[in-house]
Amino acid sequence: MLTLNKTLGVLCRLPKWQIRGFLRSFTFRPGKQFLHKLVLGIETSCDDTAAAVMDETGNILGEAIHSQTEVHLKTGGIIPSVAQQLHRENIEKIVKKTLCASGVTPNELSAIATTVKPGLALSLGVGLEYSLQLVNQYKKPFIPVHHMEAHALTIRITNKVDFPFLVLLVSGGHCLLAIVQGISDFLLLGKSLDIAPGDMLDKVARRLSLIKHPAYSTMSGGKAIEHLAKQGNRLHFDFQHPLHYCRNCDFSFSGLQTAVDKIITQKEKEEGIEEGQILSCAADIAAAVQHTVASHIAKRTHRAILFCQQRGFLTPSNAILVVSGGVASNLYIRRTLEIVTRATNCVLLCPPVKLCTDNGIMIA
Ligand code: KG4
Ligand code: ZN
Repeated sequence: MLTLNKTLGVLCRLPKWQIRGFLRSFTFRPGKQFLHKLVLGIETSCDDTAAAVMDETGNILGEAIHSQTEVHLKTGGIIPSVAQQLHRENIEKIVKKTLCASGVTPNELSAIATTVKPGLALSLGVGLEYSLQLVNQYKKPFIPVHHMEAHALTIRITNKVDFPFLVLLVSGGHCLLAIVQGISDFLLLGKSLDIAPGDMLDKVARRLSLIKHPAYSTMSGGKAIEHLAKQGNRLHFDFQHPLHYCRNCDFSFSGLQTAVDKIITQKEKEEGIEEGQILSCAADIAAAVQHTVASHIAKRTHRAILFCQQRGFLTPSNAILVVSGGVASNLYIRRTLEIVTRATNCVLLCPPVKLCTDNGIMIA
């Protein structure tokens, strides 16, 4: 009792945010007292400067994110040196905002976790340099994090998912299918032989000049295509499905991008418009591209599920497909994958949209 009174006396003299931090560092349970470990996660692998603080039980104490999407939309794609500069301008602000929202001081952290690969070297460097500065200043342990592993494991924040499970990661930089056998234990089944689906959708959106359309000007290319596709008829264009002759789980999107490019050029000629103006059939093209991407992804995933089931990697009691990465926020693609999981008695799990795209929570 005396100790508690003394503690309360000290607490009363502390500023509010420090009190909150102190109280949050403990969980009071009858007869037990736990000290929660707090991890600061930092993500700068591509075009988002993000951070979050989580405790060891999975509670998100605070987070902040600065997206560079609008800038990169204007320059027509990510220019690594521009991304680096924007990360430099924002990293300190974002980390401070995160700590403030969490009510935690750097001293109260148990560790600092940061994305170290894969990603743009110049972008990764900013997060790494800033993290190591904090690590040295506050003498904290450093946890290097693999960006794709973080995407794959994010589902375990919101759902109880045991190992092994099958994961499909589809983003602007990556496209892969893997069996997650444990933390940092992945068996790769297939990957994109060229570009990632998000990159491809970004290029198509740029080629369709969607940035000039007020409704889509601030959206990422993939999101703009998804929204535009709702008004289109996919049957008006027929694109060849990539790698239909390859009996494996790899992906390819650059051939489809070239085919779409050709169609756009042809339609521009037919409609007598200049490159840069929006075609009358833009929504139909968006719908057809989205459908081709969705069915290519679904077919390769179907093959991976059948392989896993035949080889005993996925047991009937634990047949789970996790889909994550920025492109996984596309509802048309999710619904197409649902057809596959229903037909193979699998459960499809996707993190909430906010956790599908890059964020600091998945790193923490
Ligand atoms: O995971 P993410 O935030 O960053 C990377 O690691 O790449 O993914 C960003 C990618 C972008 O290419 C963006 O166009 C795409 O995800 N994306 C979408 C959607 N929202 C974002 N693609 C299709 N449909 C969406 N709704
Ligand atoms: Zn990502």
